[in-house]
Amino acid sequence: MKLDILTSTALGLYFSTAVAGTHLQDGVAGQSSGPVKEIPAIGLGTWLSDKEKVADAVEYALTNGYNHIDAALIYGNEKQVGKGIASSKVARHDIWITSKLWNEHHRPYKVHEAIRATLSDLGVDYLDLYLMHWPVAFVPDDSSSSGGTEKIDKHTSILQTWRAMEELVRLGLTRHIGISNFARADVERLLRDAEIRPYAHEFETHPYLQQQDFVDWHEDIGVKVIAYSPLANTNPTYDGHKPVAPILDDLFWVKIADEKDCSVAQAVLGWGLERGTVVIPKSVHKDYIKQNLGALEVEFGKKEMKKIAMADKKTRFNDPGKGWGIKLFRDLDDPTELEDDDDLSEL
Ligand SMILES: NC(=O)c1ccc[n+]([C@@H]2O[C@H](COP(=O)([O-])OP(=O)(O)OC[C@H]3O[C@@H](n4cnc5c(N)ncnc54)[C@H](OP(=O)(O)O)[C@@H]3O)[C@@H](O)[C@H]2O)c1
Repeated sequence: MKLDILTSTALGLYFSTAVAGTHLQDGVAGQSSGPVKEIPAIGLGTWLSDKEKVADAVEYALTNGYNHIDAALIYGNEKQVGKGIASSKVARHDIWITSKLWNEHHRPYKVHEAIRATLSDLGVDYLDLYLMHWPVAFVPDDSSSSGGTEKIDKHTSILQTWRAMEELVRLGLTRHIGISNFARADVERLLRDAEIRPYAHEFETHPYLQQQDFVDWHEDIGVKVIAYSPLANTNPTYDGHKPVAPILDDLFWVKIADEKDCSVAQAVLGWGLERGTVVIPKSVHKDYIKQNLGALEVEFGKKEMKKIAMADKKTRFNDPGKGWGIKLFRDLDDPTELEDDDDLSEL
């Protein structure tokens, strides 16, 4: 059912069922006494959100039912996201804010600098979740050995960076830490030595790259999955990367949306929620922002889920591995293909 009017009662219901299988009382404006306990099921994405528009988008989202913002330093718009947070006048503890540590900041001394820059730009004292954006370290720009910001830093391990991120939790700069874009082997390696387990893993997953086994495995190990690019190839930066038609025009999904009397975007996001992933659709348009929240009302039965599983295209749209010379996602669907696969760089 398409959701046109969001009443406060309805929003209370949404956020009380924020993460599949749990009943949370957080995030209902004016009702919570502490920070949002669990990551809300829907957040507003901000990658490629125009600097001129993102403050309004964030303010609109926060005053119209969202309580979760997905940001990152590398998006270059955290100051404007912070303006939107401030002008919403929503109390800090009623918002879940995620940001991400960029590859150039993996050396432990850089980790502290990076989160402080993010906190200052966002205008907040703490994050709810800080993610290692990629399991790849770049040589920092200020390093004497640097040959450019995208030179791979082979001397900084994921674990060294994680140790510094663990310290951020102890310092109260972030409530949780997590990971993004890790292969399964990277997650396993981290879990062996982590003192603080990752709270969540943010990675690309949508109906065209379902990775159901990987999603299920995260449930088994108690790490929440945040599905990025939940609208598959709707992000215009993916245009032409792969010979796949836009999901919003896909007749398979148009039919599902017709049957459910909702928009295709709501159906696709609703499927992401039904499988227990957190979805973070990005938009700078009020009508889309409002419409996407309606996905919380779209439900799927087991038979429908099975049919959708059969339509997986196992197609990844976001893979910078080639440019970095690193075989990312090596044990997942649609891994990076390098010219010479024998010459694999170790992460
Ligand atoms: N951790 C990572 O490495 C990583 C990587 C990628 C993304 N992310 C996060 O995930 C977020 C979402 O992913 P994404 O931005 O790649 O893609 P997305 O949210 O799947 O798609 C965004 C695109 O869909 C459009 N859109 C949104 N709602 C719509 C609707 N109801 N109907 C029609 N079009 C709609 C947006 O338009 P307008 O913007 O023009 O309104 C935008 O062009 C990002 O913004 C970012 O926060 C994280």
